[in-house]
Amino acid sequence: MRNELLSAIEHGLDRPTARDLANAVGRAISDGVLRPGVKLPPIREVATELALSPTTVSAAWALLARSGTTRTDGRRGTTVVDTTAPSAGRYRQTLDHQATLRLDLSTGVPDAALLPSLAGALAQLTTAGTPGSYLDEPVLPQLREGLLQDWPYPATELSVVDGAMDALDLVARSALRFGDRVAVKDPCFPPLVDLLEAVGVQIVALPMDDAGPDPAALHARLAAVVLQPRAQNPTGISMRPERARSLAELLDGTETVIVEDDSAGPTSVSTPTSLGRWLPDQTVHIRSFSKSHGPDLRLAAMSGPADILGAVTARRQYGQGWSSRLLQRILLNLLTDPNACSAVSAARHEYARRRRMVVDELAALGVTVKGTDGINIWVPVHNEAAAHRPAGQPGNRRRTRQTVRPPALRTGPHPRHRRATHRPARGGGGTDRRRSAQQRLAGRHALNRDPAARNRLAG
Ligand SMILES: Cc1ncc(COP(=O)(O)O)c(C=O)c1O
Repeated sequence: MRNELLSAIEHGLDRPTARDLANAVGRAISDGVLRPGVKLPPIREVATELALSPTTVSAAWALLARSGTTRTDGRRGTTVVDTTAPSAGRYRQTLDHQATLRLDLSTGVPDAALLPSLAGALAQLTTAGTPGSYLDEPVLPQLREGLLQDWPYPATELSVVDGAMDALDLVARSALRFGDRVAVKDPCFPPLVDLLEAVGVQIVALPMDDAGPDPAALHARLAAVVLQPRAQNPTGISMRPERARSLAELLDGTETVIVEDDSAGPTSVSTPTSLGRWLPDQTVHIRSFSKSHGPDLRLAAMSGPADILGAVTARRQYGQGWSSRLLQRILLNLLTDPNACSAVSAARHEYARRRRMVVDELAALGVTVKGTDGINIWVPVHNEAAAHRPAGQPGNRRRTRQTVRPPALRTGPHPRHRRATHRPARGGGGTDRRRSAQQRLAGRHALNRDPAARNRLAG
C-alpha cells in the first residue's frame, strides 16, 4: 500500500519537475507528514511511485539539501533537518554575563571608559546636511577613500556593513553553500561556529601556533578559510607577515575564499596584515570599529573581490540595503578628529598594558599564556567547566556548555583553557580582586600538577 508520505507528496505535486517535487516535500514537512529526523524514501522508490525519472528525484533531493532542509549522512541516509530547533547559542552564551560578580573576566567586550567621546561627532551631525535618500551612495565617499588609504592591501571594492558579525553573516550566506568545507581557527570566536552551522557548512579546525594558523592543516579542499589576522579572539595571537605569505602561497590557485576578520581593528597593537597583498581576488578583509569606536556604532568595513561584494550587495537588498549613513558620518568624524584619534590610541596602549600586567602576574604564578595582542587571554586551566562557573556558585550548565572550539576538534585530547578578558574591577580595589580571580584561575591550573597547591586551595 502506498505510504502516507508519498501520497502527500503526490497530492502537493503541481508539475513533474525537481523544483516542484522539492516544494511538495517542503510542504509535507510543514504539514507534519514528514517530521525532523525522519529519513526520505529512496530515490528509486519515489521515482517509481510518482512516475518521475530518478534524475528528477535526485535533483529535488539536491535542492532540499542545498537549502538546509535535509542532511545526508552516509549511514543514516537523507534525513529531515529540524530547522526550528534553537541553535547551540554560543553567541548568546558569549554575551551572557553575571552582572552580580565583582569581577567578571568572561565578557570579551571593550571597556566603555576607553571609547572615544561621541560628543563632537554628534554636534556636527546637527550642522551638516543629512543624506536621506534610498538613492544615495551606500558608502560615504570620504569614508571609503579614507579607509582605502589605510587598508592592508590595495583593495578596489569596499563596503560598509553593520559590524564584523554582519560581514561574516553576509559573506557566509552569499559565498558558501550547504556542505562546503570551511576552516576556522582552533580555538575560535564561538558565534562564528553558530553562524557557519546555521549555513550548514562542514567546519574544519585549523590549529595555530605563535605565528598564526598552521599551514600544514590547509590540505583539504576548502570553500573558505576564516582567519583573524591580529589579536585573535580568544588567544591574542597576531599572524606574522611571513606566515601570511606562506598561507597565501598555499592557497594561490585554489578556489578557497579567504575571509579575514580583523575584529580588534584599531585596538590592536599589531600592524594590519592581509593575504590580500598576494591574493586580492580571493580575499575578503573585514575591519570592525566596534571595539575601538563603540559597539553601538556597529560598523565594519569590508573589501573583497567584485563577485563576492556584488553578491553581498544583492543580498543586502532583501534587508536593510546599506548601513546608516548617519552612523557612517559619525565614524568618519571619529577617524579624522585628532581628539578621537588620540583616545583610540590611548585605549590601544591601555589594553596592551593591562594584557602585559595580567600575563606577567599569571607567569609569576606559573601559568603561561600565549598571544601578545587584544582584549582576551587564553588561560590554561585544570577544569574548563569549573572555570566557567563563578567561584562559590554551583554549576551553571548553560555556561559550561559554551565552547570556543570548532566541534570537529572535540574528538581529540586538548590542553584545557578558559577565555578571560583583562579589565579592571568595578569600584576600585582592582589589583587585589584581579589577583584573587587570577589565583582562582591559576589555582585550577596548578591543581593539575601541584598537590601542595591543591591542599592550600582546599583549605
Ligand atoms: C573575532 C570576532 N569577530 C567578530 C566580532 C563581532 O564584531 P562586531 O561587533 O563588529 O560585529 C567579535 C566581537 O568580539 C570578535 O571577537
